[in-house]
Amino acid sequence: TSFTDLNLAEPELKQIKSVSADPVWILYGTHTGNSEGLAKQSAKAIGELGFETKVADMGSFKVRELKTIKKLLVIVSTHGLGDPPPEAEEFHAFLHSSKAPELKHIDYSVLALGDSSYTEFCQAGIQFDEILEKLGANRIAKRVECDVDYEDGHAAWLQEVISKLTAGNGGSIQATVVEQKPLIKLETVYNRKNPFPATILNKINLNGRNSEKETIHLELDLKGSELHYEPGDALGIYAINSKRLTDGILNLCKLSGEERVKTHHGEKSLFDALSDDYELTPLTSVSLKHYAELTGNDSLQKIISNNSSIAEYIHGRDIYDLLQEVPYKLSPDELISILRKNTPRMYSIASSQEAVDDEVHIAVSVVRYEGYGRYKEGFCSSFLSDRVHTDEQVKVFIDPNTRFKLPANPDSPIIMVGAGTGIAPYRSFMQHRELTDSHGKSWLFFGERNFTTDFLYQSEWLQYIKDGVLTKADVAFSRDQERKIYVQHRMMEKGKELFNWLENGAHFYVCGDAQHMAKDVDFALKDIIQTHGGLTKDKADEYIKAMQQSNRYQTDIY
Ligand code: 2AM
Repeated sequence: TSFTDLNLAEPELKQIKSVSADPVWILYGTHTGNSEGLAKQSAKAIGELGFETKVADMGSFKVRELKTIKKLLVIVSTHGLGDPPPEAEEFHAFLHSSKAPELKHIDYSVLALGDSSYTEFCQAGIQFDEILEKLGANRIAKRVECDVDYEDGHAAWLQEVISKLTAGNGGSIQATVVEQKPLIKLETVYNRKNPFPATILNKINLNGRNSEKETIHLELDLKGSELHYEPGDALGIYAINSKRLTDGILNLCKLSGEERVKTHHGEKSLFDALSDDYELTPLTSVSLKHYAELTGNDSLQKIISNNSSIAEYIHGRDIYDLLQEVPYKLSPDELISILRKNTPRMYSIASSQEAVDDEVHIAVSVVRYEGYGRYKEGFCSSFLSDRVHTDEQVKVFIDPNTRFKLPANPDSPIIMVGAGTGIAPYRSFMQHRELTDSHGKSWLFFGERNFTTDFLYQSEWLQYIKDGVLTKADVAFSRDQERKIYVQHRMMEKGKELFNWLENGAHFYVCGDAQHMAKDVDFALKDIIQTHGGLTKDKADEYIKAMQQSNRYQTDIY
């Protein structure tokens, strides 16, 4: 997310401008770009105070700079099971190694980003904060941990940091007045905070009858929104809870839903608040801890006393399960206090505006499963599948992704690897290349379960091949035979040719499952480079690192 697209009230800073001798370094560790956006936004606010600022990506940061840095702000997100983003791993490991220098000369503060639906919430930020302290650095403002709705947390942290920076700046600034400037809201500015109601133009199930999968293709109308996107960007969507689940929770709490409550979107009935403003699924560690405190329940207290029992408890359970297992008479306000604010879900855009103009297309995999004896469904995917229909509206915004972009040179070759809905951005790539002056070769690796029912957008790929927009396609249908065949197997089969493409400057893209596929594909890529490049393991690692640094290896994984 680039900072220009965030509709944050930018702090208006009124004071005498003064130039500090020491630049303020803002080091970010990002994978999807959120931390990068916040780093740039922070730099802008701090820069306006007269400080020199330097913004750097942990992935390319030179650790020898640490010697000269006096003021350091760290903004980092957490990935997977509490890990730093892959781009930040090396720096993280360095600080935790015996090579790490003493950092007594540094004043610092950490902004930690995370997702409270995971137990290891903000773990990477916590570790950076702790290791910097351990190395002797001086924490000037307390760490702030932000959930997926990070705007308010960031604003509060920045305000505190700014007050500490200016207070320590030789007294040349008497007062820092941070005021929330009223937003100049042009009618046409739609973003995360002010989503656009987009009409559904078309909704199609992409899977054939009898498929084990349910993937829907949605076409939405952006006319009148002035919203623009590029291939690789994502569409954010706000869902509404089902009446079934909302009523279920009200019943468990013996509340009618007519009670009045105040939410971040104003005063309304409890029913409306639950269905529109909060998430009723999944169960987050934050919700669990808060509920344990409210109820004082012994067994919950025990569970929240350590992270692994929390992880075990929240896995597969939702809010309903918790309220059912540990009944407690919650007031309407207490009930909403344990819930997380409704957070948008992001979908990689499957269209290019070159081809569809005012429309935006996405592919959504619908999540339904059985857990703890109850039918459960994905919040947004079930909303899009079951609760909104053609001609109805959904609230959307564009979430730009600078880290998943077609090569600047339209003639550069591209290799696109995706499984399931991971194919979506490649449809946008092809639409874009077809209608712009592009001569770069392209190669698609696509994986799904069964050829007859799950070859998403099959006819379009065939047409692209015919028209020469797509040069090659290799597909892996995992369940059409005994042995599982995945995209990485297809890559290995074509290893020699794939390596030649890389040598000819191909950009390599991976989209889809983060937990297994992206790792397996990365492993296969390394293997191919080692084997066909005749390189040692270390040299192959360097080869990949160089690709990453020149943006020739990009991932959009979830
Ligand atoms: P599976 O479900 O048969 O295991 C989209 O979901 C496709 O990605 C499916 O064919 C799925 O296979 C496959 N998939 C699952 N794990 C994968 C992995 N580790 N690498 C590549 N593809 C994988």
